Amino acid sequence: MLFHLNGEKLKCLGFYEKLIHMLNMNFSKRVVIRTHNQTWKASPKNGVWRKPLSRENTEQGHATSIVRYDAGAHFSTHDHPYGEEILVLEGTFSDESGDYKAGTYLRNPQGYRHTPFSKEGCTLLVKLHQFKHTDNNRVCINTNDSSLWLQGQGNLKVLPLHEQSGASVALVKWPAGEHFKAHTHFGGEEIYVINGEFIDELGRYPAGSWIRSPHLSKHNPYVEENTLIYVKVGHL
Ligand SMILES: [Fe+2]
Ligand SMILES: [Fe+2]
Repeated sequence: MLFHLNGEKLKCLGFYEKLIHMLNMNFSKRVVIRTHNQTWKASPKNGVWRKPLSRENTEQGHATSIVRYDAGAHFSTHDHPYGEEILVLEGTFSDESGDYKAGTYLRNPQGYRHTPFSKEGCTLLVKLHQFKHTDNNRVCINTNDSSLWLQGQGNLKVLPLHEQSGASVALVKWPAGEHFKAHTHFGGEEIYVINGEFIDELGRYPAGSWIRSPHLSKHNPYVEENTLIYVKVGHL
């Protein structure tokens, strides 16, 4: 049937196909996903599974996902248009440049090609196609290195991971019972709860929760137990 369609109709079909696959791409909306309750979706490669959090299309463009490699799984060789940001959550993630244990933070810029795999299996937080075009540095940080952690406000401990053009990424450790001041998110805030439980006046977010709060959103967060979160601010 497609052979009889002209260029305009094909463009139109492409647009509707993209809409079908689009997920949580309205950055002015608050989104909360408890990823431990999501089911794994198969990727094009056997043994590589995903939980989509936001995406522009199935296999290209902006995407934020939890990704799992079964033991022995590998992915095809690929480039990274507008970059790839990875936080290794569990296991060991590998490519031809090395082996990256849980707690490793990676930024693979455009032009960096790799063929990733995992011998023992791993779980990752992955953000694709979200670098500024001027961001060309490869970054590899071992967040288990206690010398990298800084004293934050109150009793928070902070490990800055990246900063550019008003957007920044960090890990933040909250000791049990810590309360933070009420604040407004200029440029939005994205949080992934690595362990413990993050809480604010809008809800409770156990480990595995992903919370994306839009520009000018506000909250007054606290924790009751030791909690570790990934935080990205100023990018929405
Ligand atoms: Fe990659
Ligand atoms: Fe916040």
